[in-house]
Amino acid sequence: MDPTTSRLILAPSILSADFTRLGEQIALCERAGADWIHVDVMDGDFVPNITVGPMIVEACRRATGLPLDVHLMIEQPERHLEAFAAAGATSITVHVETCPHLHSTLQQIKALGVRAGVTLNPSTPAALIAPVANFADLVLVMTVNPGFGGQSFIPEMLPKVAEIRRMLDSIESRAWLEVDGGIAAETIHLTREAGATAFVAGKAIFHHPSGIADGIRVLRDRLEEQKR
Ligand code: DX5
Ligand code: ZN
Repeated sequence: MDPTTSRLILAPSILSADFTRLGEQIALCERAGADWIHVDVMDGDFVPNITVGPMIVEACRRATGLPLDVHLMIEQPERHLEAFAAAGATSITVHVETCPHLHSTLQQIKALGVRAGVTLNPSTPAALIAPVANFADLVLVMTVNPGFGGQSFIPEMLPKVAEIRRMLDSIESRAWLEVDGGIAAETIHLTREAGATAFVAGKAIFHHPSGIADGIRVLRDRLEEQKR
């Protein structure tokens, strides 16, 4: 949710984009009403896959005025925060599993003038982020194991979304509660019901059979239906 407008946030993940037409596809997302562009950074170490770095974030920055939501699935993310901030990240989200000094890492992100996000793998309990919940601008609940797009949503993550919703409400946090992985027409409303306010989707948007704009429209409609 955008705290100023109460708008639920849709964030297409470019992991599923056609990289030969990245700028064009980001522009399509923007025209279709996407709120943020989600960029999945993987190092082949924390997760098995290797994807993109600051260079692509910088290219996205030139392609759109939308906020860039950068999700770091990398070991020792502190080493690269400055580079991603300089490339134009609006938010940087780190994994609790990679940050022994999580509070300090979130402070470093904020000191760079970037929104600070924290996320957890499916097997990591919600309690691990409680001590830093107050410092986070965004909490991301992984609803698949990080590494690849197009995986199936893990329904057991819904109670964790609800638990973190309660945690954030109890401290009157206005942080976004984001979900990422397997978000599609069949699952997005479940995460909304559990309390999510920002929704990442790769396959459901970029591989929608009738195109990106329809992919976004279907997800937005599902969220709107539920509000009524
Ligand atoms: C998974 C990534 C996700 C992924 C989501 O490691 O963090 O952002 O791109 O893709 P879908 O929506 O296809 O599951
Ligand atoms: Zn992601």
